[in-house]
Parts: sequence; structure tokens; C-alpha cells
Amino acid sequence: MLTRREAELVNETLPALRQHGEHISTVFYKTMLRDHPELNHYFNSVNMHTGRQPRALTALILAFASNIANISELTEKLERVAQKHASLVIRPEHYEIVAKYLIRAFSAVLGPAMTPEVNAAWTKAYWLMAKMLTGREQIIYKDFGPWTDWRAFTISAKTPETSEGDIVSFTLTPNDGCSLPSYNPGQYVTIRLKVKGLKYLQLRQYSLSDAPRPDSYRITVKRDIGASPDTQLDPRQFTAGLDGPPISSAASSASDSSIGSIRPHRPGLVSNVLIDDFQVGDTLDLTHPAGEFFLDANDPNTNPVVLICAGAGAAPLYPMLKVVSEQGQGRPMSWIQASRHDAPFREKVEKIAQTNPNVKAKFFRSRLADGDVISLTSRFQEDFIGLNWEDLWLQHNLTEYYVCGPEKFMGEIGGHLLKNRVDPARIKYELYSVGSFEMKR
Ligand SMILES: Cc1cc2nc3c(=O)[nH]c(=O)nc-3n(C[C@H](O)[C@H](O)[C@H](O)COP(=O)(O)OP(=O)(O)OC[C@H]3O[C@@H](n4cnc5c(N)ncnc54)[C@H](O)[C@@H]3O)c2cc1C
Ligand code: HEM
Repeated sequence: MLTRREAELVNETLPALRQHGEHISTVFYKTMLRDHPELNHYFNSVNMHTGRQPRALTALILAFASNIANISELTEKLERVAQKHASLVIRPEHYEIVAKYLIRAFSAVLGPAMTPEVNAAWTKAYWLMAKMLTGREQIIYKDFGPWTDWRAFTISAKTPETSEGDIVSFTLTPNDGCSLPSYNPGQYVTIRLKVKGLKYLQLRQYSLSDAPRPDSYRITVKRDIGASPDTQLDPRQFTAGLDGPPISSAASSASDSSIGSIRPHRPGLVSNVLIDDFQVGDTLDLTHPAGEFFLDANDPNTNPVVLICAGAGAAPLYPMLKVVSEQGQGRPMSWIQASRHDAPFREKVEKIAQTNPNVKAKFFRSRLADGDVISLTSRFQEDFIGLNWEDLWLQHNLTEYYVCGPEKFMGEIGGHLLKNRVDPARIKYELYSVGSFEMKR
């Protein structure tokens, strides 16, 4: 722990560090990635461009320092980070590098206030947090068993999940032919691939979209058109559209005056390449399933489960529905899905609902599922509020809610549930980005 004096020193400098959080993030990543360009292979270049990743890291460190006496409040956030790090193959030696450049960035902001004593206090605070993360990551890697690095898979099937072809499932079979570990429904894998025109590998997470099986995994990818749904764009014309300055590295972007600027019609890099260019027989590298957003299939309780999704948010929820309904424990389940056009997995869900009297399914046509990047007012809110108490199991005070979709969608759902006095601890959200999704309690 920090001594009382060290805690005081850290606390005294917190306001200045908070005030200059953005600057710290920029200096930190710019210098770190300049000196260690190999780390560009780990960081999502878009999250660096938008500043989401630097903000998430700095915010967590500052939150940790200000909560050092009450770290249990950060448990959920730390678990999300540790799971993400393990999924990205982050190793303890990386923490040495981050320590060096982060403390340097703090010094740049604090100037003379960064005395040797303050520097030592912050270094100690950083390592307290780093030890918590690496300790947890070590356990996660141990649980992974022998598979703790990248593993090559072959695409054995490619299946459109909508008639528009904007959501596509990929069945992935391990090249080594060995049996695959199981996972908790809701967990994700990280994939990495080379995007033409970009110097560094691109890493993205995709939820496993089917119940576990030993011979293959399935992921389901939604094409990120990066544009208003009202704009008639053919996303394919932009796929090679790394026509503007390529996002070649966060180091260059950090010095770029366009940092944080939005080019609204830029389609997603990886989802478009996967959907357009990757075919059956092609290979993809994956890491072991991970993630803290899951339904514990071994939990014997029979409390109702309500699964609420939009767009690609159906991917982590469908395995939950499938696994629990196959267990036959009689656990009541509601599936509530919003989609603009076709709802992915609709037929499969309806089949489960028809054969399982404990499962109810509701589908809404909504504009909300369309653009993950844009806020939309929608009819969905009305549809959702119009759902009866039984559909949402609001009458049962132990119902568990799992919500996944665009941020605005999750905000609306969360708001409605909280208004109906659902305990926030019983609502779980999966954010398809970095940072945390929080509803005010
Ligand atoms: C735990 C987890 C699970 C996930 N599961 C799934 C899943 O099952 N299915 C699924 O489809 N997705 C899933 N995702 C999302 C997925 O990882 C990708 O983020 C998604 O496919 C988009 O990636 P992309 O490379 O196509 O887009 P990116 O290239 O990462 O771009 C994302 C968006 O940022 C915009 N953008 C680009 N540059 C800038 C800039 N400079 N400023 C502002 N905005 C910019 C783009 O227009 C685009 O809309 C998951 C994410 C997480 C974290
Ligand atoms: C105490 C040290 C660290 C803290 C507090 C920290 C914090 C975070 C946070 C908050 C996130 C976002 C997680 C999410 O919401 O999904 C994150 C993601 C990430 N971290 Fe760390 N991290 C630390 C160390 C490291 C190290 C040592 C590395 C490796 C160089 C690293 C690489 C990454 C990467 C690559 C991501 C994913 C970025 C993305 O997808 O955009 N982190 N980290």
C-alpha cells in the first residue's frame, strides 16, 4: 500500500493530472509508440485516433489513485481490462514500458511539481495497479491452459445472417486440428489481420455467436459503414478507401492535428475487409475466448433471464439463449431484438421459442440497429416501453438482464429498466468498444 505521505502526494497532484488528462494521453502514447513501434500491433488504431483508448487508460489510473483506499469499487472495471489484456496477449514486460512513458507524461504535465518524492509516489501507485492487473492476467492465462498466444484458424463456412448481407457469420476451424476449449456464452475472441495499406496488424474483438463446440467457433460480423443510415453509400467503394492519410500508427496520429477529428463516412477497417475479402479456406489468427460479460451456464439458479439486443449485439446473446434452453432447467427466458431490416438469428431464435415453452421472443423493426456510430431517435423506445411486465420479467426481483447493442440503444434500455426499479447490479452490458458503459445508479 501507499504510505500516508505517498497517498497525500498522489492526491495533491490529481487535480492537475485530471485537468490535463487528454494531454497526458497524447504525450504518453506518442512517445511510447515512437520508441516502441512494435506496440502498434496491439493497439486499435481507430481507438487511438478517436482518443478513446488513451482516455480509458488514463481515466482508470487516475480513478485508481483517487480510490486507493476503496479499490473494490473498481473491481468490475479492472476485470474488464484484465480480460481484454489477456485476449490481446499483453505480457508483464509490457507494463515496464507503459510505466516509463506514463510517468514521463505525468512529469511533462506537472512540471516542477513532479519532485523526486512525487515521482516515487506515483511510480508506486502505478505498480500497485499494474500488479493487480498482471496478477489477475496471470490467473486468466493459467485458466487458458496451453493456448495463451495466437492460434491459426481456417474459415470453414461463411454465412450471411441477413438478406442485405451486412451481417455475416464465419465458422472457424483450428488449423492444428486439436480440440477447442469451451467458453462461457457471451465471451469473445480477438482476431488479428493485415489490412491492405496499413503497416500494422489490426486487432478486433468478436463475440462467439454459437454455443461452444469442440471442433469450431463461430463469430458474427456486422459491416461498419461508418455513415449515417440515411446516406446512400456503397460501403465497398470505401473498403480500399484508405485513400486519405492511412492510419499507419498512433504515433503519427498523436502528432497529427486531426486527432479526434471525425471523418464520418469512413467505413470500418476490419469488418469490411472480413465481409468482402475473407472467404472459406482463408486463415485468421485468434486468441483464447475471454471476457467478463457472460452468463454462467453452470449456475443452477432458475431466475428469469432477459436478453435484449440490436444489430451485432445478438452475437453474444444467442449462445446464452441456446445453452440455457438446451439445459432444460426450465429457466424462463425472454429474447427482445431490435433490427432495421432482417434480425440476425431470428429463425433460430423462433425455433427455440416454438419448442421451449419457457422462451418468449419479441422482434422489433427499428432504425436503431443501423448505425453503431450515430445517435438516432427511434421508434424502438416506444416499442420497448410498450412491452408488458411479463415480457421483461419486471415482476420478478431476481431477473438477470443482458444488453448488447449500440451505446445509445443500451442507454435507452438501461434507463427504462432503472426507471422500473431494476437493481443495476442485475443488468449487464457489453460495450463493443473500449472504456466503460455506465448507467447512473
Ligand atoms: C468485447 C467486444 C465484442 C465485440 N463483438 C462484436 C461482434 O460480435 N460482432 C461485431 O460485428 N462487432 C463486434 N465488436 C466490434 C468489433 O470489435 C469492431 O469494433 C467492429 O467490427 C468495427 O471494426 P472495424 O475495424 O470495421 O471498424 P474501425 O475501423 O475500428 O472503425 C470503427 C468506427 O470508427 C469510425 N472511425 C474511423 N476513424 C475515425 C476517426 N478518426 N474518428 C472517429 N471515428 C472514426 C469508423 O467510421 C467506424 O464507424 C465487438 C467489440 C468488442 C470490444
Ligand atoms: C496499469 C497499466 C494499465 C492500465 C491501467 C490499462 C488500462 C486499460 C484500459 C482501461 C483499457 C480499455 C479496456 C476496455 O474497456 O475494453 C485497456 C485496453 C488496452 N490496453 Fe491497457 N492498461 C494498462 C497496461 C497496458 C499495457 C502494459 C499494455 C501493452 C502495451 C496495454 C495495452 C492495451 C491494449 C492494446 C488495449 C486495447 C485497446 C483497444 O482495443 O483499443 N495496456 N487498457
